[in-house]
Amino acid sequence: MLSLGVECTAHTLGIGICNRRSILGSWKSVYVPKGGGIVPREAAENHLKNFAPLLKKALTESGLSLEEVDLFSFSRGPGLGHTLRVGAVGTRYLALKYGKPVIGVNHCVAHVEVGKLLTGARDPVVLYVSGGNTQILAWVGGRYRTFGETLDIGLGNALDVFARECGLPHPGGPKVEELAREGKYVKLPYTVKGMCFSFSGIVTEALRLYKKGVKLEDLCFSIQETLFAMVTEALERAVAHTGKEEVLLTGGVAANSRLKEMVKTMCEERGAVFHAVPTEYAGDNGAMIAWTGVLAHSSGAKYPETIDPLWRTDEVDTPWIKGGGERGRGDGC
Ligand code: ATP
Ligand code: FE2
Repeated sequence: MLSLGVECTAHTLGIGICNRRSILGSWKSVYVPKGGGIVPREAAENHLKNFAPLLKKALTESGLSLEEVDLFSFSRGPGLGHTLRVGAVGTRYLALKYGKPVIGVNHCVAHVEVGKLLTGARDPVVLYVSGGNTQILAWVGGRYRTFGETLDIGLGNALDVFARECGLPHPGGPKVEELAREGKYVKLPYTVKGMCFSFSGIVTEALRLYKKGVKLEDLCFSIQETLFAMVTEALERAVAHTGKEEVLLTGGVAANSRLKEMVKTMCEERGAVFHAVPTEYAGDNGAMIAWTGVLAHSSGAKYPETIDPLWRTDEVDTPWIKGGGERGRGDGC
C-alpha cells in the first residue's frame, strides 16, 4: 500500500509518502510570518500557491506517480480553519480524481504515531510539545487520554512569543536554545497546577526582566529550565500513575537538546525507557499524516471528511492499537 499524506494545520504545508512499513519521503513548504504571529489567511495563501509545485517535487524525487497511490490522507484538525481547508480540499480532489479512499486524520495523534514508528516505542507515556499544543498523553481504553496539558498557550508558542518580543527571528525555539547555552539562571515563576501548566505569565515576567536589562542569554537559559522542568515534573507523575515503562517525546519542541536531556534523566531515575522522535520528524510533516492514514484506514477507523479546527486528541478513536498498547501496523504487517 502506498499512502500520500498532506499536512496543513498551520505554518507548514507538508507532503509525505509511506508504505505499510516505513516512510519513503517527506517534503515541505513553510510559511514564515513577516513579523508578529501567523496570519492564517497568508499561511493559507502560501499553502495554496505551493500545493501543486510541492506535490510535483514529491513525485519527481520519489519517482512515483499519483496513479500508484492507494490512499490519500490529510490532517482534519486541530489547526487553523484557513489552512486546514486548503489541505482537505486539495487531498479530497486528488482522491476523487484517482478514485482512491481518503481519510482525515488527527494532527496530534499523527505526531505520536510517527514517533512510535521511528523509535519503536510501543506503549509510552507521551510528552507532546509543539507550538500550539502541550499535552501529556497515554493510551488507555481505545484512545490517547490527556493526563495533563497547558491551560493557555503551547510551550513552543511561549518560546516563540518570548523570542519575537526580544527581537529574535521566527521560529524562536531554536534561537532560544542556541542563546541558552551561554546563559545563567535567573528566577522566574513556576506554574504547575495539578497535572497542568500555564506558560503565559512566565513569558510576561521574562519580558519584564528583559526590559529591565537582564541579559538575553540568561533569560533564554532560565525560560528553558523553568518551562521544561514544569512539563517534566507532570510527565514524571503520569509515568508513576500509569505504571507504563516507556516515555516518548514528540512535536516540534522535541528537537530541543536540553528538553531531551531533562526527560531522559527523569526516565533513567525511574527506570523507564526514553524515546525521542528524530529531529527531522519532530516538527509538522506530511509523512506523519500519511503513516497515521495507513494505521487508521487499515483498522477501519472512520472520521468525518470535513475539517475540525478544535479536534482534541482524546476524542479520536484509535482501533489500530490493541489492548495493552500492542502496536498495530495495519493489515499484513
Ligand atoms: P501543533 O499543531 O502540533 O501545535 P505546530 O504548528 O506548533 O504544531 P510544530 O512544527 O509541531 O508545529 O512545532 C513548531 C514549534 O516547535 C515552534 O514553536 C518552534 O519554536 C518549536 N521548536 C522547533 N525547534 C525547536 C528547538 N530546537 N527548541 C525549542 N523549540 C523548538
Ligand atoms: Fe504540529
